[in-house]
Amino acid sequence: MTILVTGGAGYIGSHSVLTLQQAGYEVIVLDNLVYGHQDIVEVLGAKLIVGDTCDRTLLQQLFTDYQIDAVMHFAAYAYVGESVTKPAKYYHNNVIGTFTLLEAMREANVNNFVFSSTCATYGVPDSVPIKEEQSQNPINPYGMTKLMVEKILQDFSHAYDFRSVCLRYFNAAGADPQGRLGEDHHPETHLIPLVLQTALGHRESVAIFGTDYDTPDGSCVRDYIHVLDLAQAHILALEYLLAGGKTDVFNLGNGNGFSVKQVIETARQITGKEIPATISDRRAGDPPALVGSGEKARHILGWQPQYSDLTDIITHAWRWHQKRHG
Ligand code: UFG
Repeated sequence: MTILVTGGAGYIGSHSVLTLQQAGYEVIVLDNLVYGHQDIVEVLGAKLIVGDTCDRTLLQQLFTDYQIDAVMHFAAYAYVGESVTKPAKYYHNNVIGTFTLLEAMREANVNNFVFSSTCATYGVPDSVPIKEEQSQNPINPYGMTKLMVEKILQDFSHAYDFRSVCLRYFNAAGADPQGRLGEDHHPETHLIPLVLQTALGHRESVAIFGTDYDTPDGSCVRDYIHVLDLAQAHILALEYLLAGGKTDVFNLGNGNGFSVKQVIETARQITGKEIPATISDRRAGDPPALVGSGEKARHILGWQPQYSDLTDIITHAWRWHQKRHG
């Protein structure tokens, strides 16, 4: 079986390529390398096609040249803050790019699609842990682009012979425990990498964005989910579709929230470093708490996260950061 992985040179995509290869799949990576890393695909030994999901001609050629059985679509811009100031960039890449890919798939009669969606589609949740049927009211363009694709996929599955699984991730974190792959964003905006860069001495301090939230210690609470557990869920979703499963959506969360202060404290223990922290204003667009119920994925896909402990997640991320940036 050959799987096309768009965005396979990125953080979650590359871990999914590794997991697919370990499960015996052939993988072709399509990545425009705007944020992805060519050296990571080389480490994986996967075939890399450098190009964009908005390039219909390239996609047509790709589906002609290779017998693709299914597509896992990670390629997207994912900076929430940037999506607010540059919405056109996000609607173009994340919506038009995905739509172009879907059209090329339909033309080539490739009908199975696993989509990277996000908890950002929920906006500020009515209650936590969030279940799939809760209302989706994104509070930023990034979340809206992902919701728009979810809607397109729903309509496609009603009208066409086309099935998909949308996986709504909570906060992807951690790294391959063997240190081969990890998180490497430029610019970096995510909490755990910033905390570890501070531990390495590359930053003077980490800012805690708000300590006046209605949460146990006043800082924001998030559900950190190990990137390999996300990757595993993608394989299960793929196998579910290949076995004839119907179009569906699943949350990928552990159901456990950790505050920003708890993350910093855990990182101090793991790294043995001081990690100075300062208190800053709230960051615009941050919901106080996002925690996801992964029950449906466990029940229907048979998903069993292996690394739900925050200590494992930060330990693996630390190993990678020391190797990549130490
Ligand atoms: N945070 C800080 N200081 C920092 C960076 C982050 O206090 O320097 C806080 C944030 O305010 C937030 C938490 O740490 O409360 C986690 O922030 P991240 O930026 O690591 O992650 P987000 O929760 O903002 O973003 C994640 C995904 C997005 C997704 C979003 C949904 O990375 O793709 O969840 O809310 F859209």
